Amino acid sequence: MIKILFICLGNICRSPMAEFLLKDMVKKRGSAADFYIASAATSTYEIGNPVHRGTRTKLAQYAISVAGKTAVQLTKEDYARYDYLIGMDTANIRDIMRIIGSDPQHKVYKLLQFAGSERNIADPWYTGNFDVTYDDIYEGCTGLLDYLQNKTIV
Ligand code: 4NP
Repeated sequence: MIKILFICLGNICRSPMAEFLLKDMVKKRGSAADFYIASAATSTYEIGNPVHRGTRTKLAQYAISVAGKTAVQLTKEDYARYDYLIGMDTANIRDIMRIIGSDPQHKVYKLLQFAGSERNIADPWYTGNFDVTYDDIYEGCTGLLDYLQNKTIV
């Protein structure tokens, strides 16, 4: 079982998009049972709130539902619970480190690292563009699954 936690500032736009997109991808590959996937915020801004309409609308284009998801905050204990803690941008990585303290097991990544890029996932809360964010998150999740596949088949 590979446990993955996606993390962004509010947990209403980018990290739930990554959570539900990756869940859909592993389901379509027939490997959903091998994964536990969730998402969380670095901030308290949106705790308890549902996924942003822009993310819901974008995922609905691909028949992906986010039903039941509400924003939660990352805790220090999540470091032990998950194998991968994946932030969306450099500010997220800084905030994740502030919450968890240190990363001795090298579990913290920025999503597009898995696609061989140091780019950030743009925050649609500010850009209003959920299409670009989706494309980048799709690229990151595809790279992540390729990475995990190469890692487990030795
Ligand atoms: P997210 O976007 O980090 O992708 O969920 C944001 C959502 C809410 C806020 C900022 C970013 N906010 O300031 O409330």
